[in-house]
Amino acid sequence: MTKTRVLTGITTTGTPHLGNYVGAIRPAIAASQDPNVQSYYFLADFHALIKCQDPKRVQESRREIAATWLALGLDTDNAIFYRQSDIPEIPELTWMLSCVCAKGLMNRAHAYKAAVAENEEAGNQDPDKGITMGLFGYPVLMAADILMFNANKVPVGRDQIQHIEMARDMAGRFNHLFKNNFFTLPEAVVDDKVAVLNGLDGRKMSKSYNNTIPLFVAEKKLLKLVRKIKTNSLEPGEPKDPDTCTLFQIYSAFASAEEAEAMRQEYANGIGWGDAKNRLFEYLNEQLREPRERYQALMEDPGHIESVLMKGAERARAEAAPTMDRLRQAVGLGRFV
Ligand code: TRP
Repeated sequence: MTKTRVLTGITTTGTPHLGNYVGAIRPAIAASQDPNVQSYYFLADFHALIKCQDPKRVQESRREIAATWLALGLDTDNAIFYRQSDIPEIPELTWMLSCVCAKGLMNRAHAYKAAVAENEEAGNQDPDKGITMGLFGYPVLMAADILMFNANKVPVGRDQIQHIEMARDMAGRFNHLFKNNFFTLPEAVVDDKVAVLNGLDGRKMSKSYNNTIPLFVAEKKLLKLVRKIKTNSLEPGEPKDPDTCTLFQIYSAFASAEEAEAMRQEYANGIGWGDAKNRLFEYLNEQLREPRERYQALMEDPGHIESVLMKGAERARAEAAPTMDRLRQAVGLGRFV
């Protein structure tokens, strides 16, 4: 039986936070344990260059993200775990796809349109001011990531669905032009069941809002951050609504159903915010202690991370290189033999 190929990339510009863990990392690691699935998880570090021109930040983020996934138990004998920038076939395929992708399709990409809208609002003469070719062609690079490995399913957030549709479009066009089923048409998978966590200020936890709780901050800092989570002015003893409370939301994303139910009861009984914060901190700290120790050990052993990623790159290239040979032949760039 052929396995379903599940592929996803993580842009390496930030430090993993609780929201990333609950929304993406935890479900991805769980999915990779399914024997009917072959997972491809990679650090989208070429994509990072589009948003971030701070080499230290990109380098640091790559290491932190890799260490995080390993510390949380990703089995890299099973999942293929690699850096995008270690696979030269990906930029090569990006070029081939660029040559069949309509410019008009890229004009419609949300990220590009948002950047243009911002320029227009700011009254800039040039609507493309400050927009790089990297940003404009972002969906082509992402299509190459996906089509390179003929992924069937691509778990992503809602904001990325359009990119998967564009990848299907490019795949279909290439297949049609060169008259073969070179590429599988990928499908976006958006899981509505996974929790989207709120951050310190009650908005969605996101690096761009600067309201995150990093997954592996030191214990003291974790306590500090949990204490910063916004609550309301209800006094101890007054019943509180768990369903509009960030503390409860985070707690229940980590706790079992029974534990969450018990906490719900405490809200009804009027638990004080100070108590609720201490309880959340203790619970998180308990669950994160062991992976945090593994994370710290990994961060101090970059050579190990490097060797794991190089092994992943080797496995990925064992597929990408022969695929690229076929594609070169298909477009007329085969060898003279
Ligand atoms: N663009 C994705 C994001 O910002 C990251 C990404 C890059 C990706 N390449 C991918 C996700 C391929 C899925 C498949 O979240």
